[in-house]
Amino acid sequence: MNTAELVQHFAEQTHPDELEQFDRSTLRDLLTQHETPFLVLDLQEVEYQYSALQKALPGVELFYAIKSLAHPAVIRRLKKLGGSFDLATSGEVDLVKGLGIEGHQCIHTHPIKKDREIRHALDFGCTRFVVDNPDEVLKFIPYKDEVELMIRVSFRSQDAIVDLSRKFGSALEELPGLVNLAMENGLTVSGLSFHVGSQSLSPFAQVNAVQASISAMKEMSHVHWKWLDIGGSFPVSYQGPVMPIEDFCAPIMEALAELPASVKVFAEPGRFISAPSMIEVIRVVGKAKRGARTWYYLDDGVYGALSGQMYDHAKYPIAPLKPVDPTGDFYPSVLAGPTCDSVDVVDEDIELPELAVGDILIAKQMGAYTIASASEFNYYPKPKIVVVEDLIDHTDDE
Ligand SMILES: Cc1ncc(COP(=O)(O)O)c(C=O)c1O
Repeated sequence: MNTAELVQHFAEQTHPDELEQFDRSTLRDLLTQHETPFLVLDLQEVEYQYSALQKALPGVELFYAIKSLAHPAVIRRLKKLGGSFDLATSGEVDLVKGLGIEGHQCIHTHPIKKDREIRHALDFGCTRFVVDNPDEVLKFIPYKDEVELMIRVSFRSQDAIVDLSRKFGSALEELPGLVNLAMENGLTVSGLSFHVGSQSLSPFAQVNAVQASISAMKEMSHVHWKWLDIGGSFPVSYQGPVMPIEDFCAPIMEALAELPASVKVFAEPGRFISAPSMIEVIRVVGKAKRGARTWYYLDDGVYGALSGQMYDHAKYPIAPLKPVDPTGDFYPSVLAGPTCDSVDVVDEDIELPELAVGDILIAKQMGAYTIASASEFNYYPKPKIVVVEDLIDHTDDE
């Protein structure tokens, strides 16, 4: 490489075209039809991610965790693909019921429920519930002839960005006591479940959890084990690369091979299916030079669809829609949301070319835990969702 090529190479490394997978003219067309900010939900991408996970976890039944993105179009598409659903609330029960899904296609995985919520799920025909403590087990006594329980076990993981085993899950040592309590009260225990944490960067917490679950099942051989639910946690790429899903799942599949053939495996993926399926189209509505940085004020921020930055610890890749010369000048910039709160800052440390008021930015990987936790603080309405097919080009993925 000569010097000019080297400079070009490094410039491209530092500032690659974040939007190369998108057809910019399609995005511009959408902009002529919709007021910013808006989210674009690509149903082909939902399908792509679902199929990729199914291929990486052959034989595993996938229950989409609708909490990550409870959009009817996503649920309908997954229903068409033969997907099953992971529910946690009566509202989620009503949503899937309204879309023609039946209770037997669902599991209810919230470890803590009101009696009213149990009855609501049962009326819908969902009979498989997760519990993780004695009080919760006892709540099911009135329904003992209708329900089958899965006991959630806590496996902490340092590799998961969102730790879900601090708040939920029985300790492994408490598991036999819980199983016995349920059985003594005439309840049917049929499975174990765990969730090692969301956006797990390595598969080994899941591998250990599978191995520990198999040992626990063997030790409690008086139980008729029917299911092992390995939760969600499958990662997607935000700022840096993550393991390809087939590599991530390979050691998990290897660990699952030790399960007796009579035990069926479930998973509850949310993020992996929904995150890449949505982008957000945001406009620069103001601009101010403050010290060494240029502040760009956007028409959505952390109180809106970018709320996942607060609740989900995600940092979304954001890039200008206009083509960027990777060898051009980039400046230290700040991206701020529109509300009056100073916490509403999206990125304090981003290098951007000079932008103008009115310019458009695209935030990627905006499907999971984004609009789900958006608020209308300051009376800014939540961004609307525009549903499309085939926004993202995968021809270079192989
Ligand atoms: C019980 C349960 N199942 C599944 C999920 C989905 O996890 P993920 O988005 O990591 O796939 C969650 C996430 O909070 C959860 O709490």
